[in-house]
Amino acid sequence: MIWIFLGAPGAGKGTQAERLRGDFGFVQMSTGEMLREAMRAGTELGKTVQGYVTRGELVPDDLMAEILQQRLAQGNTGNGVILDGFPRTVRQAEMLEGILARHCWQLCGVVYLDVSEEIVLQRLGGRRNCPQCGANYHVVTMPPKVEGRCDRCGAELVVRPDDALEAIRKRLEVYRRQTEPLVNFYSQRGLLERIDAGGAVDEVYQAVKSVISRRWKRCLAGE
Ligand code: AP5
Repeated sequence: MIWIFLGAPGAGKGTQAERLRGDFGFVQMSTGEMLREAMRAGTELGKTVQGYVTRGELVPDDLMAEILQQRLAQGNTGNGVILDGFPRTVRQAEMLEGILARHCWQLCGVVYLDVSEEIVLQRLGGRRNCPQCGANYHVVTMPPKVEGRCDRCGAELVVRPDDALEAIRKRLEVYRRQTEPLVNFYSQRGLLERIDAGGAVDEVYQAVKSVISRRWKRCLAGE
């Protein structure tokens, strides 16, 4: 069973997906984190995508679909998979339909985290990221226990290069132009669940959990 998390940069896709992982036994597949891992490891893929990611542009559709397909084919899909950051264009959504059909995987729902740009700027402006394990923090709303250090692995936290103001603006513009059309795409297919994601993390999580529980039952019943 597959879930898609859709929303602007900084909407909280990663934060909410991480929580669901623990409570529902889902596997989170963050395409952004896959690319950052490749960049950290200095692989060929990492070198190819570095410019796109740092500038806040999208990596080409065919390459992204190939990366996702390979990851899904590895198995280890737990009680279901959360796609965090894929698809991001209508073309990617169409390619995903093909991938799911070939493997007989079912798309259970699309959780759309809706936030204002003002909130996006506050969230991304204060985000700190662990370059070792990928964990995310926020200096005000989700600070680490020890300032500047990752709770999980102790590494020194950094600001993601694409969280520089210029890159954030570019990502928002790309989101509006290329990703937002997916709201209609999935709404027309009866798969979209819109959640007001402007509240506190716990508040948003309660809404996400209730949508997932309801849709999960329907999916298990084959509806
Ligand atoms: P990606 O890593 O997917 O970035 P993004 O979509 O821009 O999303 P973010 O990770 O910035 O935000 P998020 O919604 O996960 O928010 P988070 O939970 O961290 O992609 C990066 C790049 O990779 C792209 O720009 C592109 O170049 C490339 N890429 C990836 N996928 C691609 C694809 N499919 N096709 C082409 N290119 C692709 O939260 C943000 C902050 O807010 C955190 O500090 C958090 O602590 C805080 N926070 C979260 N929720 C709340 C809350 N409710 N209240 C207060 N604070 C909160």
